[in-house]
Amino acid sequence: MRLLKQGMFLLMVTIALGSLWIFYLPTCSNPGWNPSSVLSYSWLEYTDSDDSPEKVCNCSGILQGEREALEQAKLLTITKDFTDSVHIPDEHYMNATEDCSAFKLRRKYLTSPLSQEEEDFPLAYSMVVHHKVQNFERLLRAIYTPQNIYCVHVDKNAKSSFLFAILEITTCFPNIFMVTQPVDVVYAAWPRVQADLNCMADLYNSSTKWKYFINLCGQDFPLKTNLEIVRTLRSLSGRNSINSEEMPAGLMRRVRNAHKIIDGRIQDTGKAKEPPPINIPIMFGSAYIVVSRGFIRSVMEDSRVLALMEWGKDTYSPDEFLWATIERMIGVPGSRRNHRKYDMSDLNAIARLVKWQGLEGSQDSLDSAYPECHGSHVREVCIYGAGDLKWMLKQHHLFANKFDIDTDPIAVYCLEKYLRKRALSELQ
Ligand SMILES: *[C@@H]1O[C@H](CO)[C@@H](O)[C@H](O)[C@H]1NC(C)=O
Ligand SMILES: *[C@@H]1O[C@H](CO)[C@@H](O)[C@H](O)[C@H]1NC(C)=O
Ligand SMILES: *[C@@H]1O[C@H](CO)[C@@H](O)[C@H](O)[C@H]1NC(C)=O
Repeated sequence: MRLLKQGMFLLMVTIALGSLWIFYLPTCSNPGWNPSSVLSYSWLEYTDSDDSPEKVCNCSGILQGEREALEQAKLLTITKDFTDSVHIPDEHYMNATEDCSAFKLRRKYLTSPLSQEEEDFPLAYSMVVHHKVQNFERLLRAIYTPQNIYCVHVDKNAKSSFLFAILEITTCFPNIFMVTQPVDVVYAAWPRVQADLNCMADLYNSSTKWKYFINLCGQDFPLKTNLEIVRTLRSLSGRNSINSEEMPAGLMRRVRNAHKIIDGRIQDTGKAKEPPPINIPIMFGSAYIVVSRGFIRSVMEDSRVLALMEWGKDTYSPDEFLWATIERMIGVPGSRRNHRKYDMSDLNAIARLVKWQGLEGSQDSLDSAYPECHGSHVREVCIYGAGDLKWMLKQHHLFANKFDIDTDPIAVYCLEKYLRKRALSELQ
């Protein structure tokens, strides 16, 4: 079965590469940004005539946090008929992408850069996904522009229907590709980092001279338009935006003891590790980063970084220390000095807005960092509901985590409508 899967994968990759050429040629001869073509793009707006069950919601009321609109949304989200009608099975995408142009047209994917400013500042995305094609496709549509470049890593353990659906979607676009070396992702273990590293290597080796790198998972969604993202990144003037703080004492075991993957789960062996091969402390941060091209060069080539990564392979949750530590190494492009004054939390970095259950609460509570989650929780992280949107859109983060169309499709629906409208109004 495994061999068969791999064989089919290779076959699909060959097909993917074949059609990549077909789609690549016309794009090459495309003159690129053309102000007059942009003006005729009102058809790109998402309207209620797009046949989606969520259209019964009042998104403008929801975005303003109005009680009536939110109550209606809440009621719909707990109605099984409604959530069933929104859900699209993975298999659907095989059919839907048979005719790529029809798929892109129907789903209103952008077909040219919306501005010269965006065209001059291409971005590279790594997208690490393992289930729920619909979440992936909605996210992709929200961030897709023809000048950016996207690497998709599908977990080697993912269902084959998932893999094929993603493959079919990515094959429709010349600037989206599957990672050349997929890995078996294990929660909180090194392969999660390796998945991003493999995409970084492919992106770094691509001919697109992208300026910044952003990594995503399937449950992320943008809070900003591509133009807003570009402007925010330009204002960083080459710096990275990575949260990097002192490692909490309670988490030290993660990097002091050696770990091992046993039966697909990471476990503490109880054996002490050698100290890290660097002269700064191990820092604490997040798996999600916004970094310059130079930072990625260091990750690929700097011998100190390579030694740190080799050392980190048997740590617990290496993604939560690795980027945060590299960010504090002297000579890494866009990095900050290793002084407490430069420490930065996830709320101050721009990469990802996450609501941790333990930090939710009313404004009067000194222990709370943000209002309560209006959706549900998975592993102590909020899955946003429509009621979270008003607050979220006031934050500076480029992306938020987690969204799930299966549990709250309305949050994603209203957010994608808001972003598209904003992107098109920026043209005026
Ligand atoms: C939706 O909400 C807006 C903003 O509160 C309100 O002005 C509008 O009347 C509402 N629309 C419907 C159809 O209820
Ligand atoms: C896909 O298309 C085939 C044949 O055209 C059809 O039999 C099948 O029901 C379709 N599947 C879905 C999920 O739409
Ligand atoms: C980079 O891309 C070239 C082809 O463009 C390929 O031959 C080479 O093996 C790639 N290198 C890596 C490290 O992937």
